[in-house]
Amino acid sequence: MLKTSMPHTPFYVYDQAGIQQQCDRLKTVTLPDVATVLYSLKANPNPSLVETIVNQGLGCDVSSAFELDVALSSGVAPKNIGCVGPYKSTRLLTECVRNNIAFVAVESAEELVELGALKRRYGSDTAILLRLNPNVEISGGSMKMGGAASQFGITEDDLPTVLALAKSHQVAISGVHIYATTRVLDPDSFIANFSALCECLIDLQTRFALPLDAINLGGGFGIPYYKGEAALAVEPMREALLSLQQNLIEKTGATRLFFESGRFIVGENGKAVIQVKSIKQSGGKTFVVCDGGYNLFHGATAFANLMRKPYFINKATRLNVAEIACAALPNRENTACGEALSGTKAEAQRYTLVGPLCTPSDIIADKFDSAPLAVGDYLVVHQVGAYAITSSPGLFIGHGFPAEYLVTPTGVQQVGKQDSIEEMKRRYTNIEQEMASESLRRVS
Ligand SMILES: Cc1ncc(COP(=O)(O)O)c(C=O)c1O
Repeated sequence: MLKTSMPHTPFYVYDQAGIQQQCDRLKTVTLPDVATVLYSLKANPNPSLVETIVNQGLGCDVSSAFELDVALSSGVAPKNIGCVGPYKSTRLLTECVRNNIAFVAVESAEELVELGALKRRYGSDTAILLRLNPNVEISGGSMKMGGAASQFGITEDDLPTVLALAKSHQVAISGVHIYATTRVLDPDSFIANFSALCECLIDLQTRFALPLDAINLGGGFGIPYYKGEAALAVEPMREALLSLQQNLIEKTGATRLFFESGRFIVGENGKAVIQVKSIKQSGGKTFVVCDGGYNLFHGATAFANLMRKPYFINKATRLNVAEIACAALPNRENTACGEALSGTKAEAQRYTLVGPLCTPSDIIADKFDSAPLAVGDYLVVHQVGAYAITSSPGLFIGHGFPAEYLVTPTGVQQVGKQDSIEEMKRRYTNIEQEMASESLRRVS
């Protein structure tokens, strides 16, 4: 347990109760006994978070051998693990079938043949689903992954060929997976997309005699990142989603449904805390240099700047890590950018917040309006529980990834270490020895 009230910065901090609450909310919109919500480890594979989520009754959605290893170590039942992703290594496919996970969603003809052979070799029960990229109109999500040209899944046009290939290789297909979009915030769009997908599946089954014993319906549950965005209210969707699922299983005969969600579960429940290290004037701007930036929350810096949309950031008014983790989003409706929680608008000053990297793109927030900042102040970057540690260049400039903390009812636990110089150097040392022991492990 953490003794000090404020750890060394920068760090990530997660709110366990918030994560549990999000899991419970998702469970209410999925059909009991038939549907399983899988946590997408790509959002954040921290084993303590995965364990929290699995203890809440969710399964795991994995895309790499590492994620599968973390999932299995969490104690989740293999029948509640699914594997999805445009490329899966032979090692990953082998571990999936050896562990009899619920399903692997294949995304290409090559993968179908390889997985079929591995299943036979290991006498595995793992179901094979086809990931489809159907011709459906999708709306409301910020990132389309279906219903348009994409590297994901098999198009409707290719479906007959792939089904024939499966037959000729004696590979049984048990169902389909569709992940059409993500980050949907509007309940009406969510329901409309979901309804269109269900209709499409019913139609495909009729037209292609598509086996639909298991269906992975994807997800797309969004969270707000920018000013003016509201959180997705799942509660009003409950009735419509449950009745669409009921209709789907009645029409198709499906016995298992799966949903996937990453950011909705952990995104809002993770914050990064950084510290102001220096303040300087240049070209009429006041630059505030912090000890974390683009290397810790790529989405909040590079992506948000590209979109010219400010993220939710505020000056920490309380120096207590548990209170920071559980603090609600600051109200940003009336502010240009990043208003501090304390202080009035009248005394606000405009800053350019930057991170520690040697690149002009490491701007955390341009035009950050805040009560006066001083060296030593802490800043909280919100909504970074998902796709921060997993999609930021943590090794850039050799800073390494920072420590991670989890706030639980019994206190604050450290659940991830700051990368040490020794650990970072390990990548470049003892190469031959480590490769030899790795290949021994693979053989055994
Ligand atoms: C196939 C698949 N499943 C699940 C997810 C998780 O999405 P989210 O974190 O938005 O819930 C993604 C995200 O890209 C995905 O591609």
